[in-house]
Amino acid sequence: MTDLIIAVDGPAASGKGTIARALARHYGLPHLDTGLLYRAVAANVTMLELDPAQEADAVAATDFPDSLMDEPALRSDEMGKRASIVSAHPLVRAALLQRQRKFAHQPGGAVLDGRDIGTVIAPDATAKLFVRATPGIRAKRRHAELTGRGSFVSLDKVLADIRARDARDMGREAAPLVLANDAMLLDTSFLSIEASVEKAIELVEGRR
Ligand code: C5P
Repeated sequence: MTDLIIAVDGPAASGKGTIARALARHYGLPHLDTGLLYRAVAANVTMLELDPAQEADAVAATDFPDSLMDEPALRSDEMGKRASIVSAHPLVRAALLQRQRKFAHQPGGAVLDGRDIGTVIAPDATAKLFVRATPGIRAKRRHAELTGRGSFVSLDKVLADIRARDARDMGREAAPLVLANDAMLLDTSFLSIEASVEKAIELVEGRR
């Protein structure tokens, strides 16, 4: 059997993480949430009391212990915001590149989700999905998730944060979030999680 590499890219709260995890389970493949790598760098910068906006500081923080990736604190919106600041530095991206490429190209294949999987990490992926949803719908989902975790922020603030993160991730010079030429669009705005996963499997099957 040939290796099955599935690249799942898309903006924050589009549903790409949920879809990537479901695809990994469906195909029995290992999964890497690459956002966690940038979140770990952001957390390490904070712990080392360095400045995320300074490239050299952020690069120094790329040497983080693996255990950091299991920290629940990495999942906060604040860490997502800091992650999008450190991720704009080309040298930070370069420092994390081999680790991701190696994961993608392991025997059998893998599922990776992020912003540049189909464009930079695994341009040779078997199937590339670009998951999107309107900013308003992504904000509502993120807001419900935060409220469920007992963290109370207004919907307006969540929407503003999502728009700011989109602008940074799409506007940066280094590996911006763009639709790869051969990526398949999956808009989850009006789809349930189950329907989104079903559609994702159908799209991947079309490329096998
Ligand atoms: O996907 P997640 O929201 O966890 O990603 C956090 C941040 O890390 C993103 O906003 C983005 O700036 C950065 N990131 C990236 N490239 C990836 C994955 C995440 O630049 N492959």
